[in-house]
Amino acid sequence: MKESVEAIRQEVNAVTIKSAGELEAFRLRFLVRKGCVASLFDKLREIDPAERPEYGKLLNDLRKAAERKYEEARKELEASSSRKTRHGIDLTLPGRRRFLGSEHPVQQVLGDMKRIFSAMGFTIATGPELESGSNNFDMLNFPPDHPARDMQDTFFIRRRDGEDDILLRTHTSPVQIRVMLEEKPPIRVICPGKVYRNEAISARSYCVFHQLEGLYIDRKVSFADLKATIFSFTKQMFGSDVQLRFRPSFFPFTEPSAEVDVSCYLCGGKGCRVCKQSGWLEIMGCGMVHPNVMRNCGIDPDDYSGFAFGMGVDRTTLLRYRIDDIRLLFENDIRMLEQFSQ
Ligand code: DAH
Repeated sequence: MKESVEAIRQEVNAVTIKSAGELEAFRLRFLVRKGCVASLFDKLREIDPAERPEYGKLLNDLRKAAERKYEEARKELEASSSRKTRHGIDLTLPGRRRFLGSEHPVQQVLGDMKRIFSAMGFTIATGPELESGSNNFDMLNFPPDHPARDMQDTFFIRRRDGEDDILLRTHTSPVQIRVMLEEKPPIRVICPGKVYRNEAISARSYCVFHQLEGLYIDRKVSFADLKATIFSFTKQMFGSDVQLRFRPSFFPFTEPSAEVDVSCYLCGGKGCRVCKQSGWLEIMGCGMVHPNVMRNCGIDPDDYSGFAFGMGVDRTTLLRYRIDDIRLLFENDIRMLEQFSQ
């Protein structure tokens, strides 16, 4: 027994440890539970109890010597590895990059629109994407047989005879109704949000998109106020030299109604592929709030008047960032979104 202890002690002393591999080999040979030192401890049980304390001490000293040697070699190796500091940190490694989220391009465009209207005194109102048929259509003066009420155009969630429909709103105009029912004039709000339509999906149209609605109601609000507001907005949004064009149009909730075009800010109005050689881009619908809509919401049209407008956000986003497929805005592909970090 004594010889075995002595032989292992000499072996421990003789070993040289110069690499991580040798360090590990040392540990496996001498320090683990199945190693040769531990197995000597196991043999203690077989020897005369009177001699056990002496051998116990010898073995303990051997184990300590092996542990010390291991620790020293480990520290030595760590310090000598030139790339690592005393604390085991390799300062030459590149840092860990954290992924920083970025604002979605649609939200960047919406953010600009909101800032411009906020500066003109508009506050932001929101409404639910799941709307009642009455807010989405009836209160906005849509006649009962209007084609927009067709299943072909609208995603209905629930339709029951004698009950109000539940649907995915097809425009942000129902938020006008919610605001008019809640607040007394003067009212000056914009309502940004998602809207849904049962469209054939293509690079140019998708079943969900974004709109920004505007509503201004007060005494003596005129079409001139509407024009001035839109004028100021478009110059700030698309550049100070864009031209505006109001074309007569029809919406059930406004009278008179117009559609607004800006001169194509890509070709300066000369005509290009994007504006289909016309020199104009359609950006919104607008008009004076229909007296029926005011009455539906308890506002007296003889006392008050107002204007409303509604514009798409996605097309402007596509044009601004030269994105050629609207579906890219809704796929949440991180490779696409990463390109918009500011
Ligand atoms: N709601 C209309 C649409 O989705 C857009 C619109 C047109 C909104 C005229 C308005 C408006 O407020 O006055 O096509």
